[in-house]
Amino acid sequence: MKLLIVGATGTLGRQVARCAIDEGHSVRCLVRNPRKATFLKEWGAELYKGDLCQPESLSAALEGVTAVIDAATARATDSLSIRKVDWDGKVALIQAAVATGVERFIFFSILDAEKYPNVPLMDIKHCTEKFLAESGLNYTILRPCGFMQGLISQYAIPILDNQSVWVTGETTPVAYMDTQDIAKFAVKSLEVSETEKQTFPIVGTRAWTAYEIINLCERLSGKEAKIARLPLGLLRFVRSFTRFFEWTRNASDRLAFAEVIASGKPLDANMDETYKVFGLDPQQTTTLESYFQEYFGRIMKKLKEINYEKEKAKKKKKTPFKSSS
Ligand SMILES: NC(=O)c1ccc[n+]([C@@H]2O[C@H](COP(=O)([O-])OP(=O)(O)OC[C@H]3O[C@@H](n4cnc5c(N)ncnc54)[C@H](OP(=O)(O)O)[C@@H]3O)[C@@H](O)[C@H]2O)c1
Repeated sequence: MKLLIVGATGTLGRQVARCAIDEGHSVRCLVRNPRKATFLKEWGAELYKGDLCQPESLSAALEGVTAVIDAATARATDSLSIRKVDWDGKVALIQAAVATGVERFIFFSILDAEKYPNVPLMDIKHCTEKFLAESGLNYTILRPCGFMQGLISQYAIPILDNQSVWVTGETTPVAYMDTQDIAKFAVKSLEVSETEKQTFPIVGTRAWTAYEIINLCERLSGKEAKIARLPLGLLRFVRSFTRFFEWTRNASDRLAFAEVIASGKPLDANMDETYKVFGLDPQQTTTLESYFQEYFGRIMKKLKEINYEKEKAKKKKKTPFKSSS
């Protein structure tokens, strides 16, 4: 199949691109900055310069494309708002896909999006799901709830670095999944007709609270975490303050999302039906224990090597200079 992947430079999108190329698909990636995307070209993808917020770039990018996998979302650091990218941009992409006769459209939403109408990104995801379902496209909606990759900077690195780990509110249990596993569902859905016009939860093997993740990291790293608690009230105050300024609108919307994680309502779902329909084996799914084991194993080995080299250099310095006379 000839695929267009949108958001292929992102955390999930790059795994989707990798998996699709490995499965033998011909992959085109819509990228804003081709220089940042050279790794995709090296993997064998074709790069097409475009932007969800420049609708004129979309129809040309879709030429000859059989299926779209959309893994894009507004960057927290971007000047473009969630509304511009995740709503206006996605509406333009879906309309362009209809106009060019795309056969399949795979969209990444978020689990339980409909339950949080006051959280901008959740509301937009829910509206996009509805817009896509009514577009006439042959769609599949995949609903993950959290990526294991995000836990490295949130927990593992601060613990290794003796920095504080921030915990807010009730610490909702979240069924995080490895993006490599999520990518497999997206690519597999292209060949399983039972996934057409359907929505599926795509979540990890079990839900973890912040304290459980901290305990796991402490056990695997042999280090004690410094925990800093951020009260929910303070988070809400910062959010209401940031909302006043245009330039912090994205930050404000992200803080609204942080409230979902602090709500205490588990983000988890039963995956039996999803595995059955996709024909994938749950035993192959990465657990959070094995994900962190692999990460800490690699880091600890690197640290040992660095320490060994340091000790060697110290010993060399201390060795008295031997005179030849
Ligand atoms: N992160 C999570 O835990 C999580 C949980 C549930 C669902 N999801 C969903 O999963 C999907 C992937 O998320 P992610 O965390 O992997 O995203 P990410 O790492 O933030 O990457 C975002 C991607 O979107 C692209 N993008 C942003 N604005 C764009 C624009 N105007 N035009 C074209 N491309 C644009 C970015 O390109 P540049 O490199 O040019 O910036 C990047 O490739 C999203 O739909 C997200 O809502 C994420």
